[in-house]
Amino acid sequence: MAKQIIIDHVFKVFGEAPQRALELVQQGLSKQDILARTGNSIGVFDASFTIEPGEIFVVMGLSGSGKSTLVRMLNRLITPTSGRILVEGQDIGLLSERELRALRRKDISMVFQSFALMPHHTVLQNTAFGLELAGVGRQEREQAAEQALAQVGLAGWGASYPDELSGGMQQRVGLARALASDPSILLMDEAFSALDPIIRTEMQSELLRLQESKRRTIVFISHDLDEAMRIGDRIAIMKDGQVVQVGTPDEILRCPADDYVRSFVRGVDAAAVFKAGDIARQALTVVSAQGDRGCRAALRILEDSDREYAYVLASDQRLLGVVSSQSLRDALHGHHGPLGLRHAFLTNAQPVSADTPVAELFGPMSTAPCPLPVVSESGTYLGVVSRTGVMRFLDRDTPPVPPPQEESAPLQLNPHYPQAANPVAPLQ
Ligand SMILES: Nc1ncnc2c1ncn2[C@@H]1O[C@H](COP(=O)(O)OP(=O)(O)OP(=O)(O)O)[C@@H](O)[C@H]1O
Ligand SMILES: [Mg+2]
Repeated sequence: MAKQIIIDHVFKVFGEAPQRALELVQQGLSKQDILARTGNSIGVFDASFTIEPGEIFVVMGLSGSGKSTLVRMLNRLITPTSGRILVEGQDIGLLSERELRALRRKDISMVFQSFALMPHHTVLQNTAFGLELAGVGRQEREQAAEQALAQVGLAGWGASYPDELSGGMQQRVGLARALASDPSILLMDEAFSALDPIIRTEMQSELLRLQESKRRTIVFISHDLDEAMRIGDRIAIMKDGQVVQVGTPDEILRCPADDYVRSFVRGVDAAAVFKAGDIARQALTVVSAQGDRGCRAALRILEDSDREYAYVLASDQRLLGVVSSQSLRDALHGHHGPLGLRHAFLTNAQPVSADTPVAELFGPMSTAPCPLPVVSESGTYLGVVSRTGVMRFLDRDTPPVPPPQEESAPLQLNPHYPQAANPVAPLQ
């Protein structure tokens, strides 16, 4: 089961006189001033936040900002100078050495940037190493190691030696070694930073996939905002030992707390980070599929509102299809009775799912005659994305804050048309 971590007013001071340094902190002195006056270095400065069970929590910040210090306090590799760390409610500062070893063996695993594999041990032995240290019997640990290797896509590689593997595969072994004890918490300190970009992206996907099959609480340190945005459920940004902002990728991008955070966010690849659902707009003609004079009424709506396309929804807001004035006319050609809208659906205006990255919209947009409808996983219509909308969105330093989605009721096609009043939607 994934576990919660609470970080409660945690400080770490490196040096001879930590209490003196903390007093100066209380007096409001900065990290730099305290270092100059006392020779003590503040690693972490009053960090307080909660990491929820099962989330991927990314810690970012410039070199020296305190990321590694913070994460190493979570399994007490570094002891806080003051403050508390609670793992599932348990203050780990109060654990005995034996309890602490058990916590590291069973609950918390760590993956480092350097793979630190033992060259004369096989992949299987390397993977089982932590369990061996913990005194787990050979058969049991090798079985657990085999399973962990299979989880990271290295089934069958157990008998190989590390130097027979590529860098990416070696880091998979590092990950398998951490997974072998089936921990509820994974601490990953720049675990993917040494990998080349393609392998790195692959490993990020691997981690997300692992998270799908079994949720763990993952604390992931990264220098790379694109990585943080891609895998992080939430992100903490550190500066000079302080946590300056904690938020979802969206919150960090849209409302950076200060100039430091803003400078991080500026370089981000918005097209990869933002999804179709983020930029969909409720701005075009939407009609309900109810009403037996479907095509005729829809054509009237389009003509009256001078629109080319309409998005057709079921009563539960599911998108049924897209019609154009031309497709309606074609369908009605030579037809005199009522005609359902589905006879006029365009075949080249397929919806995109809300979680499609903006970068992947260009292909479908280039073949569609109209703005693309965006739907949720269950098929609910969320709005549309247009070519100009996407270009405008990408053509700026920091992505704009999309306006809140407005709930607009679809037009009801009136079965008594044409006597009824003109049922045109409020168009924007
Ligand atoms: N053992 C130590 N003794 C003295 N100072 C230390 C020690 N470990 C860390 N520090 C100091 O604490 C601060 C935070 O260091 P930390 O290693 O946590 O940063 P980081 O954000 O992980 O940096 P990087 O991105 O380079 O890994 C730095 O100023 C560093 O010099
Ligand atoms: Mg570090």
